[in-house]
Amino acid sequence: MDKKVTVVGAGHVGATAAQRLAEKGLSDVVLVDIIEGVPQGKALDLMEAAPIEKHDSHLTGANAYEATAGSDIAIITAGIPRKPGMSRDDLISTNAGIVKQVAAQIAKYSPECILIIVSNPLDAMCHVAYEASGFPKNRVIGMAGVLDSARFRSFIAMELNVSVENTHAFVLGGHGDTMVPLPRYSTVAGIPITELMPADRIDALVDRTANGGAEIVGLLKTGSAYYAPASAAVEMAEAILKDKKKILPCAALLEGEYGYNDLFIGVPVKLGAG
Ligand code: NAI
Ligand code: 2OP
Repeated sequence: MDKKVTVVGAGHVGATAAQRLAEKGLSDVVLVDIIEGVPQGKALDLMEAAPIEKHDSHLTGANAYEATAGSDIAIITAGIPRKPGMSRDDLISTNAGIVKQVAAQIAKYSPECILIIVSNPLDAMCHVAYEASGFPKNRVIGMAGVLDSARFRSFIAMELNVSVENTHAFVLGGHGDTMVPLPRYSTVAGIPITELMPADRIDALVDRTANGGAEIVGLLKTGSAYYAPASAAVEMAEAILKDKKKILPCAALLEGEYGYNDLFIGVPVKLGAG
């Protein structure tokens, strides 16, 4: 394949993202993790599924960064997830050190790549990766809004018993307490949900969206969500790899936009090759 994506962290989100990248035929994939054997084993397992899934993506696993050289995109999922009772912010001291080291290594071997940050707490980890990589702000983007918007869309579709394909939603702001679901800009077949549901039901769906991560943590008990997060990161990667210029809610560094400075916040971003 002529595109190469590195996924750092071969855990739940990373391995699932690698699977989606391969099965969509988007790129070759290098999976990196500190645990010896795990990225190699998962990459080989995914390669062995390729004849059945009918894709020609090449997947490799590694514990060092030489194999990642020349990547177009690096998706950073390395770090620890939260457990019941923990907030995303409780992860900061552990994950900041990990993301700093990972971003510096990626920048060394793939100086032209685009970073998609997934590790939590998301907005802070974007800042850590931005500084450690030395990349310009258009090449450091955080994944949260696509996930939060997908959750909101799922809940809207369940509530109104319509296809998820008819739903559109925008969730901006931070990935946590400062998350901002926007009902007026959330539609079903082009009609704002404010015209389709009573205010108390919209409030309930907004609340469920804002607590969507915690709802899954409470059910899984051993970690956090990964199927929808992986799908969200891969939707962003696809927009970049195919230069789609797709407007998606992503964490981006603001320099005066919306009155904010020097903060990564979820805003509408046009995602393409640049
Ligand atoms: P996980 O524990 O399944 O996987 C994390 C992997 O990172 C592990 O395999 C671990 O060995 C690896 N790792 C740790 N230090 C490393 C290092 N220095 N270099 C390379 N790999 C390293 O966790 P999961 O569920 O995959 O979540 C990963 C992160 O993504 C967590 O911080 C979680 O909170 C975050 N997350 C963020 C979401 C978002 O919306 N932004 C959504 C879902 C998860
Ligand atoms: C989520 O929202 C854990 O941030 C992650 O599921």
